[in-house]
Amino acid sequence: MKHEVDLKKNGKLGKDFILRELAAKGHCLIENIDLEKVRPLLKELGELFIQEAGQEHLVEYNAGYEEFRYSKSMNEIGPHSEYPYYDIPPKIQVLYAIKPSDCEGGQTYTCHTERFIKNLSQGELEMLSSIQIDFKANTDLQNAPIRHKAFPVLTQSTNGSYIFRFSHNLFYYGDVNANIHSEKKGDFLKSIKNQDFQLFVKKFLDYFEKNKQVWSIPKKGLLLWNNHKVVHARASYNDSTRKLLRFLLT
Ligand SMILES: [Fe+2]
Repeated sequence: MKHEVDLKKNGKLGKDFILRELAAKGHCLIENIDLEKVRPLLKELGELFIQEAGQEHLVEYNAGYEEFRYSKSMNEIGPHSEYPYYDIPPKIQVLYAIKPSDCEGGQTYTCHTERFIKNLSQGELEMLSSIQIDFKANTDLQNAPIRHKAFPVLTQSTNGSYIFRFSHNLFYYGDVNANIHSEKKGDFLKSIKNQDFQLFVKKFLDYFEKNKQVWSIPKKGLLLWNNHKVVHARASYNDSTRKLLRFLLT
């Protein structure tokens, strides 16, 4: 069920609280924290993952990205996990709101995949663990894709943990960082010649839509989630002053 999260419910600030919340719910919101306190707090939680732009990635509108479903545009970005083309994608994703959008849009959506996976049949689990998807990302958004590697959607380990990789952009626009005018819309998904996989993608998108949590991260708010188990997305917006800082932790 889609619902607005009660942002008034503040949590205690601290590593243990965050880890408990992440284990129980997959996400955690810390309100009203100064940026100077964010970096030391994150260091307690894990190693900073080096993103394309370095340890911190500014999520804000930049001219030149209007055509892309990408963090530096104002376009919608469909459900996805971060860095799916890495052997081990960053485990925790973090967004800090320096300046939330003043318009209606720009919400972050998150959806835990655990219940979805639990309800899959053995056949579906085997399919998701075996079909290799070439997760490719055009990271400079102008030239040919420069990052790609094949993984199944679901990688399970013997201790019960798992990594769920997903990219609406890839399946429908042919690239993790997709061009909105991609003439090959849907071709990538069709190229995976397995009808059950195509049904799975539609089934998961439907699940995401019905179960997503909607976050309007307040100014100085810090939203964290488990990037191995929680899929996220972003609503479009039109306030070019919106500014978030993204950190990723291994
Ligand atoms: Fe993202």
